[in-house]
Amino acid sequence: MLRLNAEEQALLAGEAGLGVQKAMEILVALGQIYGAADLVPVDSVQVSGVSYKNLGDAGLQFLEEWSALGGRARVPAALNPAGMDLAAWRELGFSEEFARKQKAVIAAYATLGVAPTCTCTPYLVGYIPQLGQHVAWAESSAVSYANSILGARTNREGGPSALAAAIAGRTARYGLHLDENRRPTAVVEVRCSIRSEADLGSLGYLVGRQVENGVPYFRFRDADPRAFEWKTLGAAMAASGAVALYHVEGVTPEAAAGDTVVPGIQTLTVDDLAPGYAALDGTSERVDLVSLGCPHASVGELEAIAHYLAGRRVQATLWITTARETREAAARAGWVAQIESAGGRVVADTCMVVAPVADLGFRTLATNSAKMAFYTPSHSGLSVRFGPLARCLEAALTGRWPAARTVRA
Ligand code: F3S
Repeated sequence: MLRLNAEEQALLAGEAGLGVQKAMEILVALGQIYGAADLVPVDSVQVSGVSYKNLGDAGLQFLEEWSALGGRARVPAALNPAGMDLAAWRELGFSEEFARKQKAVIAAYATLGVAPTCTCTPYLVGYIPQLGQHVAWAESSAVSYANSILGARTNREGGPSALAAAIAGRTARYGLHLDENRRPTAVVEVRCSIRSEADLGSLGYLVGRQVENGVPYFRFRDADPRAFEWKTLGAAMAASGAVALYHVEGVTPEAAAGDTVVPGIQTLTVDDLAPGYAALDGTSERVDLVSLGCPHASVGELEAIAHYLAGRRVQATLWITTARETREAAARAGWVAQIESAGGRVVADTCMVVAPVADLGFRTLATNSAKMAFYTPSHSGLSVRFGPLARCLEAALTGRWPAARTVRA
């Protein structure tokens, strides 16, 4: 039985307007479906359902109708990547028609009080929930990072439920908001070396396939996991499975206590990443688009790419996707100019899974992201090459996928 306090009952009765009432109706319905005892206030929201490529006219109409009802986000709320760079779309080749519809989506969200910060890494641009705080985030890799690395609490929200949480300032308390659902369901013993973000993604792909929507607890034997780029692992597990929370012994906040592993749960052993690479990597020799920044690149990643490209010139199209705020910080440091003088582009607000890349004429995409390698064939129809950053950058420099032995680390 879902309990509502007096304020929530008033919001549900429409006392704060039809838009807020609609939000409460969605949250109450979800709470009843999932057996929530009550609603819980959230500190921030990240809303998915932003790219016009995915939303179409029906999704845009839904948002415009809601914005006409009134209601505004009561907590800081940001968006998932849009279908294009909101500033540089024309020079990147997006059509006027697509841009017009995409801007209408962003405008509807703005009317509802959601900031036009379009990123899957809100935690890199100021949305940083603290340990134990409740949030309502939607993008799977961001959800995984918030739950696992930051120790915040969020289910993987859908677009409408996240928007409802923003407007109501709360969400239904079920799933990963509850202690009992945050305990590990499987121990993963990683016995092979992890030398790159692609290795971590390959590992995530393999583990996600096996644990599905479980909660893996990682132990790394042959690596110092404190140096890892965790967003890569979570993104891959959320793609091949539905992992929204994982723990890493000695690293993640909820694994620190050491008492989280219940004796007798399933143990998986990973001692070879080759099956992950075999599943994700294709065979095309030619590469016409190299896509880095999945999840959206950090300033540090942009710096590393800028150093690699210094004094060189790319042959293939190289796009590195990131949050606009991250792009601006990297521009101040000089990394954007260095990448773009080599012929690459630092593209804000979007990603190549939700952008209409096939319409832009690309046929083969190379990436260091297991998540992007997983989704690109089905979402965009491009063939994929998957490998570490240096190999992808060499592909950008030559237009061909290089043999692994020819690539310097
Ligand atoms: Fe982000 Fe797009 Fe990758 S949303 S995690 S860059 S597929």
